[in-house]
Amino acid sequence: MLLVEKTPQKKENTKSNKLFEEACKVLPGGVNSPARSCKSVDATPIFIEKADGSRIIDVDENEYIDYVGSWGPMILGHRHPRVLEAVELALANGISYGAPCRQEVELAQLVCQMMPSIEMVRFVNSGTEATMSAVRLARGFTGRDMIIKFDGCYHGHADSFLVKAGSGLATLGISNSKGVPEDLAKLTISIPFNDVDALKKAFKEHKGEIAAVIIEPIVGNAGLLLPKDGYLQSVRDLCTENKSLLIFDEVMTGFRVAPGGAQELYDIKPDLTTLGKVIGGGLPVGAYGGRADIMQMVAPLGEVYQAGTLSGNPLAMACGVAQLRIVKNGEALKDLSEITDKLVAGIQKIIDEQKIDAIVNKTCGMFTVFFTKKEVFDFESAKNSDTKKFARFWQNLLEEGVYWPPSQFEAAFVSTMHTDFDLDQTLKAFESALKNLD
Ligand SMILES: Cc1ncc(COP(=O)(O)O)c(C=O)c1O
Repeated sequence: MLLVEKTPQKKENTKSNKLFEEACKVLPGGVNSPARSCKSVDATPIFIEKADGSRIIDVDENEYIDYVGSWGPMILGHRHPRVLEAVELALANGISYGAPCRQEVELAQLVCQMMPSIEMVRFVNSGTEATMSAVRLARGFTGRDMIIKFDGCYHGHADSFLVKAGSGLATLGISNSKGVPEDLAKLTISIPFNDVDALKKAFKEHKGEIAAVIIEPIVGNAGLLLPKDGYLQSVRDLCTENKSLLIFDEVMTGFRVAPGGAQELYDIKPDLTTLGKVIGGGLPVGAYGGRADIMQMVAPLGEVYQAGTLSGNPLAMACGVAQLRIVKNGEALKDLSEITDKLVAGIQKIIDEQKIDAIVNKTCGMFTVFFTKKEVFDFESAKNSDTKKFARFWQNLLEEGVYWPPSQFEAAFVSTMHTDFDLDQTLKAFESALKNLD
């Protein structure tokens, strides 16, 4: 494990700042994905040089305990030896073939075993591709055009999903993107999460028109939101009643909250599931899969077209196989759950002692500290949070050597590599960060 033990300092002339200046000349906003711009926390990004275990080190040699974890995939932490070994072995045989390889069969078999609702799966290169393709498939299968999504959920940046979306859009306050044709946006209905009546109403108003309901079963992109008791079963039942497909977007929750994802945790069988970063173990992979009768509509078997030059890339597949094999037996996620519980209990204690208006929503390996004292269960209630306070908190944590997701509307990710020592250091950092919010 890296342990440079150098306390990060707030400095103007850092290598990160210089790189950011250069980056801004050639990359819009200096970044390749808005969520990492740190705009909403009134900061500029640090540039990462390397990572190991639970730690990342920036180009100025500052070391941080990492709670971003590449936004989810690093369940086993950075540079897990078995994952590295699998990638190195694959690398020795070449980088890309554009032809079938053994590793894609192995990963497909693992995915189907771990998530039994998935009878067949197609690999793509990102979560966005997965959700976009799943919706096309749902439209092809049902012969309907409309979809229902939930306010604050984020399903990637395909046109159909940029209506009241979470994640970077919520962070930047631009939940409906320019450039999305009005006619296409009209086909997406966005309703509140955890509100069964809103879903019933949407189905009633658009009877026979809804191809699919796409949902993050545990929302990670409005900050962490948990489904209320029985909510996901009601969503399942309403989809069945209305002959619409239910798509679980498990890009974040898949293989993290349980070996079989949120669908195992809540015992719900979706028709289709979308997966992403986690199945690549940090390399660019996505997937959509589900009932065989639906998946058989995908080309070359059926008439729903979808393709990808780099899809099923041997390195990415090998990395995913190595991570999923470790996650499969359940022990790693048991550890992850214990680590998360321990950390959240410590954080809650500090919040109580310091009488901070904050609440914590958590599941296995993911949680969000919302700066509000009211319960947070949908996007509207998440928006009660004091984002200015969050920005101060984020900056304070960074100074204390903790790298936290730079948005109130994101979840923090824990890995199995977070040790007791890391947790103690994190809690000390929290104590100090929360003391200095005003
Ligand atoms: C639930 C969910 N779906 C889809 C996506 C899009 O994935 P990608 O960024 O790989 O395109 C994300 C990304 O964070 C996500 O959290």
